[in-house]
Amino acid sequence: MSPIRALIDREALRANLRTLRRAAQGARVMAVIKANAYGHGITDVAATLASGDAESRADAYAVARLDEALELRAAGIHSPIVLLEGVFDAGQLAEAARHALEIVVHDESQLAWLEAYSGAHAFKIWLKVDTGMNRLGFRPEQLSAVHQRLTRLRVPLAELRLMTHLARADELEVDMTAAQVARFETLRSHWPGTPPVTSIGNSAGILFWPAARGQWVRPGISLYGVSPSAARDATSLGLAPVMSLDSRVVALRRVPAGETVGYGGSWQARRESRIAIVAAGYGDGVPRHLPSGTPVLIDGVRAPLAGRVSMDMIAVDVTDLPTTTCGSVARLWGPGLPVEEIAAAAGTIAYEVLCGVSRRVVREWV
Ligand SMILES: Cc1ncc(COP(=O)(O)O)c(C=O)c1O
Repeated sequence: MSPIRALIDREALRANLRTLRRAAQGARVMAVIKANAYGHGITDVAATLASGDAESRADAYAVARLDEALELRAAGIHSPIVLLEGVFDAGQLAEAARHALEIVVHDESQLAWLEAYSGAHAFKIWLKVDTGMNRLGFRPEQLSAVHQRLTRLRVPLAELRLMTHLARADELEVDMTAAQVARFETLRSHWPGTPPVTSIGNSAGILFWPAARGQWVRPGISLYGVSPSAARDATSLGLAPVMSLDSRVVALRRVPAGETVGYGGSWQARRESRIAIVAAGYGDGVPRHLPSGTPVLIDGVRAPLAGRVSMDMIAVDVTDLPTTTCGSVARLWGPGLPVEEIAAAAGTIAYEVLCGVSRRVVREWV
């Protein structure tokens, strides 16, 4: 068995959902579990958040693609599931109907497939409005015509809801979020008839912008214990890391002063050094761009990465940790070493690092 493991902390996941539910003050929680639940394992995350006490249970799940939703249904998840990008063709619309999936409608092509749909299913639809992100969604001025077309479908909708997505909610000093919320609120309040159920907030919306929530919130990264903003650390937000990427020291060597370590010889020993080789590399999802000096926890103590990350291994300078032995635990991130810090060292964000944990890494629930 390979020594590398992604330990997934079930109680931390539940505690984070509880924290977010309280922060969202009564809004219902749609747990965003796309991209294999940000690397944590989509079916196990869904099953965990479908059990437990009422406060730590998700009210619905959100995924990006039909295959993700079908995997959940096949695993026996009966909760509401929302397809955040909607369907990509008419065939997918029929599949979505068969599995009672809620669909986002953001584009003319999706409207046309709904109008041509010949089945009997009454869809629950999240109509997406673009309030400034300029990625998915109808522009505000298109909404009235789109709404009218949706009211004329052969099979009336089970429900029409309204959503938008925030572009800069992680930037606490930037006023774009307030402008997006104001645009959304204008649309909602001028809705013909009963105002629709709404959803606005992602993690940053929930945690930093009380007006940017709606009746449903959509937390992703914060569920996994990661801060959605560089301006705040996860602990201060009451979030606990869910994943630890742990491996072991598999070899130890003495490197004379002046010699180099690894591909490209980018790290050179300034003194006689003790180097620990750890079974973890970019083939597991350790970012290759991590520079020498990036911390690795060896038996709980920080030691610097020495040289380039290889596919299956890294080297760590443990000269100052004389108790390190073969078999010592090496933590790449997790409690004691935030994944946000590792992502920043690699010039990326924790979202990408977590999603990048590869298939060969066993997820072990603890
Ligand atoms: C439409 C939508 N809602 C919610 C989320 C969750 O965002 P976060 O992970 O920042 O909470 C995402 C993630 O990309 C998204 O695309």
